Amino acid sequence: MSADLSPIDKAKYVAAKRAVDYVHPGMKVGLGTGSTAAWMVRCLGERVREEGLRITGVPTSTRTAELARSVGIQVVSLDEAKWLDVTIDGADEFDRQLALIKGGGAALLQEKIVATASDQMIVIADAAKEVATLGAFPLPVEVVPFGWQTTKALIEETLEALDVLNRDVTLRMNGGRPLVTDESNYILDLHLRRIGNPRQLALVLNQIPGVVENGLFIDICDIVVIGHPDGRVTVRDINEGTERDDRINIEPNDNIFRDFSD
Ligand code: 5RP
Repeated sequence: MSADLSPIDKAKYVAAKRAVDYVHPGMKVGLGTGSTAAWMVRCLGERVREEGLRITGVPTSTRTAELARSVGIQVVSLDEAKWLDVTIDGADEFDRQLALIKGGGAALLQEKIVATASDQMIVIADAAKEVATLGAFPLPVEVVPFGWQTTKALIEETLEALDVLNRDVTLRMNGGRPLVTDESNYILDLHLRRIGNPRQLALVLNQIPGVVENGLFIDICDIVVIGHPDGRVTVRDINEGTERDDRINIEPNDNIFRDFSD
């Protein structure tokens, strides 16, 4: 069955499989959102079923909560857990400093709150997500629906004041209507192509009335686990300043592939 997976799914799977080695019995674990994070939730579920691993999961979206419950992970809210040992999540882009763009799956607000409430954040990604400079992926910004067009205009003015060259801002849609997040907000996607100063932009965006949170994760991610379709994984730790290569066996009969449906 694993042979049926696309190269990109193999890369996501091996990154997820390696990352769940960081989870130990009794831990409280933030569960990210997206297709890579879904592999991680399945891999954790496999450890719960096969090793009797006892952990508590804090999901970052209703989608992840459903998946986690379905694979046997005990799920609690962040308020119940209060502080987490580790969060494992995907990303849309990451750079050499492990600054991230997240929110392609519209879950950036819960993802940022959960990751920030964790001792450690581990990002899992295929190698194509690594960039020299963030910004080719449109930057998601979560805004309240009230006055969203005014908020959009204020964001455009701010980008102009920052001398950002490409500043096309679009409302994310879902079936002809604005996409509504789990927190009942809208998402504006900022098509910037290049973000020269992510730290500054992240701070400035959050000063604009109507902006709830932006998808730039700066100084939050500790480790990135990069998966490759041939089973290689690269683990880069920003705090230790280390990079190690490893290999994950993609088992042809791995149970985890049976319920693959993404
Ligand atoms: C969701 C996210 C995701 O982590 C990000 O979009 C990556 O998703 P995928 O693993 O499907 O490429 O930020 O809000």
